[in-house]
Amino acid sequence: MEEGIVEVSDTTIAAVKGRRVWDSRGRPTVEAEIELAGGARGRAISPAGASMGAGEAVDRRDGGSAFGGLGVTLAMNAVNSEIAGALRGRDAADQHAIDKRLIALDGTPNKARLGGNAIIAVSMAAAHAAAAARGLPLWQHLGGDAAKTIPLPEIQIFGGGAHAGGRLDVQDFMVICPGARSFAQALDWTAEVYRAAGALMKDEGRLRGVADEGGYWPEFDGNEQALAMLLRAIERAGYAPGEQVAISLDIAASQFGKRGRYRLARDRRDLDSDAWGEVLLRWIERYPIRMIEDPMAEDDPEGFAHFTSAVKGRVQVVADDLVVTSAQRIADMARRGAGDAALIKPNQAGTLTEAKAALDAARDAGWGAIVSARSGESEDVTIAHLAVGWGVGQFKVGSFTRSERMAKWNEMLRIEEALGARAKFAGKNVLP
Ligand code: PGA
Ligand code: ZN
Repeated sequence: MEEGIVEVSDTTIAAVKGRRVWDSRGRPTVEAEIELAGGARGRAISPAGASMGAGEAVDRRDGGSAFGGLGVTLAMNAVNSEIAGALRGRDAADQHAIDKRLIALDGTPNKARLGGNAIIAVSMAAAHAAAAARGLPLWQHLGGDAAKTIPLPEIQIFGGGAHAGGRLDVQDFMVICPGARSFAQALDWTAEVYRAAGALMKDEGRLRGVADEGGYWPEFDGNEQALAMLLRAIERAGYAPGEQVAISLDIAASQFGKRGRYRLARDRRDLDSDAWGEVLLRWIERYPIRMIEDPMAEDDPEGFAHFTSAVKGRVQVVADDLVVTSAQRIADMARRGAGDAALIKPNQAGTLTEAKAALDAARDAGWGAIVSARSGESEDVTIAHLAVGWGVGQFKVGSFTRSERMAKWNEMLRIEEALGARAKFAGKNVLP
C-alpha cells in the first residue's frame, strides 16, 4: 500500500448479530457485531443510565422476574431479525443512511419499539466496521486530519444520588484539572487526589467502598461535607485548588426536584427553586467549583435559566436531563438561556447521527459540549473515539477505578500518544 492512500475493503453489510452481554452493574445489555462483505468487523455495547431524563431514547427490557425485569432478549432478537434484515446489503460507511433506516424501522419518537439499547449498539457497530474497513481507528475515521483535540477529563471522586442508593442528594462530586498541560498529566493529578480522598475517608472511619461509577461511597452527614472533604483531598494531594485542580458537580436535580420544589433528604430541607439556587451560589463562593451539571430539575427550565445567568462567566452550567442529547431541546434551551454546555450521551439520542446533530446544535448555540458515559458501562471505548473524532473538548466517564471507566481513560491516553506532537489538549480553554 502506498503511503497516504487508504485501501478500503468492501463496506457492504453482510451480517448483523445481536448478543446479550453484561454491564458494570451485572445487568444484561446488548452488544451488536457487524460484518462487512470485505471482511471488516465492528462491535459495540450499549451502556445504560440510572438517573435518566424523561425525554431519552428508551431501552427495551423484557420485564418479568428474571434479572429484575432487565433482560434484553427482545432487544437482542430485534437486532438479529428485523434490524439485520433491514441493514443487510447497505453501506456501513454511510452512517447517515444507516441511522435513518434504523429510525424509520423503529417508527417511534423514543425508540421504544426496537429498543434504544438495540439501536445505539448497531449504530456504533456500523461506525466501527466502516473504520476497520479503512484500517483506521474510529477517531481518525470520523475526524480525519482535523481530529487533534484531546479533551479535559471530568473525573468522579465521590458518587451519590441514584448511584449510591440516595445516600447523598448530589450525584457526582468530580474534579477537573484546568492547570494540567496534557490529558496524561490530568490523570496523574486525579490519581493523587483520588488516593488522598481515600486516605481521608479511611482516617475518619468513613470508607465504605465505592458507588456505581467507582467514586467513594458517600458516607457523609450532608452534601456540603462531601465538598469540604473534596477540597481537603485536593490540598492534601498538593495541588492549588481552583487553579490546578477544581471541583465539578453533577447535581442531577431531577432526582429530588419536582414542580419547582427541591427536597434534600440528607440536608433535611425543602426549598423552592430560588432558595435552592442560593444554596448552590453559597457553595460556589466557598469551594473552587468551575462546572455544575443539572443544577435544576428537567421540569424547571426557568430556574435553570435563572441560575445560568447568576453564575455566567464563573461556572459552566451543563444540561443533561434537561436536553437529553436532543438537537431540538438544546436549541430550545439555548434560546431560553438554560445552561451553556450540553452533555452528549449517544444512547440518550439513540443513534450516532442524532448525537452528532445534538453536538452541532450545541456548537451553533455557542455552548460547550462534554461527551459522556453512563452509570452502567462496559469495556466498550467508543465514546473516547467520538470525543476526539468530533473534536469535543470535554470528556466525562465516571471515577478513577473499575475497568469499565479505566478502559476509556486508558484509550484516551493511547489516542493522545498516537497524535504525539499534533495533540492539542483542550485544558482550561473550554471553561468560562
Ligand atoms: P446515568 O447518570 O448514566 O445514571 O443516567 C449519569 C449522569 O447523570 O450524568
Ligand atoms: Zn447528569
